[in-house]
Order: sequence, then structure tokens, then C-alpha cells
Amino acid sequence: MNIFRKKSITTILKQGGDGEHSGLNKVLTVKDLTFFGIAAIIGGGTFSAIGNACFSGGPAVVLLYIMCAIACGFTAMCYAEFASRVPVSGSAYTYAYVSFGELFAWIIGWALIMEYSIGNIYIAFSWSGYFTNLLETFGIHLPEWLTINYKSAHAAFLASKGDEGLAAWQNAPMLGNLRVIFDLPAVVINVLITYLVYRGTKESKNFSNAMVYIKLAIIALVIIVGAFYVDIDNWTPFMPNGFSGVMGGVSAVFFAYIGFDAVSTLAEESKNPQRDLPKGMIYSLVICTVVFIILALVITGMVSYELLGVSDPLAEIFALKGVKWMLFVVSIAAVVAMTSVLLVFQMGQPRIWMTMSRDGLMPKRFSRIHPKYKTPSYATLVTGLVVGIPIFFTDENFVLDFTSIGTLFAFVLVCGGVLMLSAQSEAEIAERETKGKFRIPYVNSKFIFPVIMLVAVALILKYVPDFFTNVLDFSTGEKLATNIPMLVFLIVCVVMTFVSFTKNLSLIPLLGLISCCYLLTGMAVSNWMWFGVWLVIGLVIYFTFSYNNSKLNTETEE
Ligand code: ALA
Repeated sequence: MNIFRKKSITTILKQGGDGEHSGLNKVLTVKDLTFFGIAAIIGGGTFSAIGNACFSGGPAVVLLYIMCAIACGFTAMCYAEFASRVPVSGSAYTYAYVSFGELFAWIIGWALIMEYSIGNIYIAFSWSGYFTNLLETFGIHLPEWLTINYKSAHAAFLASKGDEGLAAWQNAPMLGNLRVIFDLPAVVINVLITYLVYRGTKESKNFSNAMVYIKLAIIALVIIVGAFYVDIDNWTPFMPNGFSGVMGGVSAVFFAYIGFDAVSTLAEESKNPQRDLPKGMIYSLVICTVVFIILALVITGMVSYELLGVSDPLAEIFALKGVKWMLFVVSIAAVVAMTSVLLVFQMGQPRIWMTMSRDGLMPKRFSRIHPKYKTPSYATLVTGLVVGIPIFFTDENFVLDFTSIGTLFAFVLVCGGVLMLSAQSEAEIAERETKGKFRIPYVNSKFIFPVIMLVAVALILKYVPDFFTNVLDFSTGEKLATNIPMLVFLIVCVVMTFVSFTKNLSLIPLLGLISCCYLLTGMAVSNWMWFGVWLVIGLVIYFTFSYNNSKLNTETEE
């Protein structure tokens, strides 16, 4: 059994990636790709999750936005390097196939389900929150038991707080012993999006460009109008819950950045993917980073951070300030913004499954193309179910954490993958440069990385002298659980310092790997447990089905 067998870049290029897009018009330009990136990035994280992140970290949440931007920036460069070397669809899954081999490719494909499908569950919940607001502005009131998920209503009942949840629990109709409580708008939007994607969205380029204009304009309006209400006293205390409070928002803030990587799924539809995909990813990330930082400053300046722990914070701030017309405008923008994100991810998921199915790692049905609509019909319907069914059973916090941990894990592997790529010859590098193809600048980390680590240790010892003794404190079960991820991170740092010194690793992917690993240390213990269960299920499927059915069993490869 050879679980590390790889596909070569040449084979992937010969196969033309996922095939479905081959032959499609190569029409997308840098501007389209950048817009697509923004369409995928600004959604539930910006309109919803930002609230709880501010509540947990206070105004200092901007530091977390900067940290996540740095980690995503390095990762985007790694995606860009891959996109330039392997300009086919399939995203991180394909990249892992050429660098780490089949098993890791499978694991990434499996982790991407968390990013694309589970992420869409969160966005559907957030969409529903703003949509319900919008209905209220038209005087339409849906009963609470149709606008909240069962788990949240139950939690509100147990804690005897949360108006909406309590009302839902108390007024829900009964089916036998079961209370009928579910988020109807979230279910409906998922059905509509699945239908749209199933039929094929020909107008997708114009549609998403228009949506991007709308959402950027409205966010600019939120910032401008909001700026008039900023009271700088709200920025003190800057870090009310300490650094652990800031890190408590890591899932939410990281979630907001997810999406730039989806640009890499458009390789076969862009005019010059090797030059333009990297630009699209990086430009969209830079624009969104600026937007996020300003937005976080404005909303934490408008009201006390303690009032922001709600699911519709951008509407809430204007409700608190009595600016009624903005409530309406923001709710419309949120609904539009989140619809575009839902579309991007609901289109991305079936295409990744289709690629995996063509490689034999998923059942053949997943690459079935609808004869009339020319879309991966079966995979699209399964995506609809994977997003739709959990809407009845889960809550937004769980899916948010789950999405972030899975995506971060995939990012770590992408950065690691670039470190594993074979070096190119002088001639290949020269060819890439003359054609304007992106290349990650090689900076030897041999001395720089160890120096960065030493400086970090010195700073920690100066400002948090008991940091290392705390990490080694396993006196209670809780400490053991929270310290293990940090301990693993420290071990990874030591190992990578050694490897960077001996193997002259490239600095940028190395920093990407380390910064994403650091963000992973902020994940709660329960996330790690669920993530572990998820991985084990994935591995069972790989070893019982995918390995035996892989096309590599019949094709000659490296
Ligand atoms: N970044 C995307 C959003 O916030 C996933 O909705």
C-alpha cells in the first residue's frame, strides 16, 4: 500500500484539471477574479460573526484582524504559487495531490467540506437573521419558532434568557413530544441556492460583480455614517478581557477572511491564470483587510463592546443609535452579500467533489454532469443536503468553529505543500518570470526564522514571564485541555526552526504555516474533539473506498 503516491503536475495539466471547465471560454480578468474573491469573503463573518468577536475581545479585536490578515496573506501567496504552477481547478485538493500525495489530498478534500458546506450552514443562519429583520421593517413578523434553530432555543430555555429563544421554546407547536422549532428562512435560502446552482448560473460573473459593488458601497456607508457616532471613550479599555478574550474571537475573525482561496477554483476560466489568479487572490484579501479593520474600529467606537454580542451587530449598532433608515439599508446589504457568498461556496463544493470523483476517490456519481444544464447535478444535490439537513440540528456557534478549524487545517497543509514542492530549474524560473507568472519570492529562512523565534521567546519572557510555566501546567483537566494545543504549537516551532536551518526552507510558506498553526491554538477543546472525529471518519472512508478505487491504481504515476 502506497498512501503517499502522487500525481505529477504534468499529468494533471494533461488531464486539464476537472475537465468540466475545459473548453469553457477563458474570460475572467484580474478585476473579475478580485471581485469574485471579495464576493466570497464579505458575508456572514462581516455582518454577523464580527459581533461576538468584538464582544469577546473588545476594541482590541482589530489586533486579531491584523493577525488573521497576516496568516491569510502568507497562505494566499502559497495558494498563488500553486495556482501558478498547477493552473487547474480543484483548489487545495489538487495542490496536495502533487506535493504530499494522495492521502493528504484526500484529507484536504475532506477538510474543504468544512469550509464550503459547513461554512454555508453558518451563512444560511446569518442570512436568516438579517432577512427576518428585513421582513420586520415591512411589518411582517414570523413566529420565533420559525426563525431560530432548535439547539439555540433549547439553550435559551435552559438558561432562561434570550427573548427570541425563550419565546420560540414556549410557543412552538408540538409534534408528539417534540417541539417544532427550526430556522425556516435558512432552509428556504439553501433550497433556492441549490436550485440555482443545479440549473447553472450563466450570469454568475455579472451577478457577482453587481453584488460586490452593492456590498462595498453599503459597507462604506456603514463606515461613513457610523463614523459620526464614534465616541473614542468606547475604545477604552482597549483589551477588556485580556489577550485570551481577543483570541476567543479567532474562529469568528478567521471565518471572515475565508473565501480568497475560492478564487483558485476559477483557474480554467481565467484568461491568464498563472499571472491573474495570484493577483485576484491577493488584491481581494488586501481590500477586505482594510475594510475589516476600519469596520471593527467604527463599530467598537460607536457602542460599548458589551452590546455587540448579537447575531446582527451592524443592524444593532444603528438600532441602538436610533438611525432607523440604516437598519433597512444594512439588512438589504447583508442579505445580498450573504447570498453571493452562499452561491460561491455552493458552486465550489460540487466541483471539488467532481474532481475527487474523477480521480476515483469519490463514487462515480459525483462527477455526473447534467445533460441539459451541464452542471455536476448529483454532487450539487448532495451539497444541498449536506448544508440543509444540519440546519435542523445544529447551531451557528458550532458550525462557525468547525468551519474555521477545518479551513485553517487545510491552509496549514497548503503552506506545507509549497515547502515540499520540488525546486524549479533556472530555466523554468526564467520562463515564469518572462511570462509574468507569479512566483513566491524565495527568501532563505536559514537564519531569519531562528532569529524570529528567538526574538519571540525574548519578548514573551519579558512581557509574559510565566508563559512557559503556565503552558506546562497540567494540574487540572481544563488546563491540560487548553495547554495541549499550545504545547504542540511550541514543538512545531522548535522542529521547524531546526528544519529551516538545515534545509534552507523558503521563508514565506514557513511563516504561513507557523501563523496558521498559531491561530489553531485559539480553538476550543471541543472543536478539536469534533475535528478529530471528522478526520477519523474521513480516514475510514479513504482506506475502505477511495484507496481501492483511486485512478492511480490503474495509471502509471511517479
Ligand atoms: N468569509 C465568508 C463569510 O464571512 C465565508 O461569509
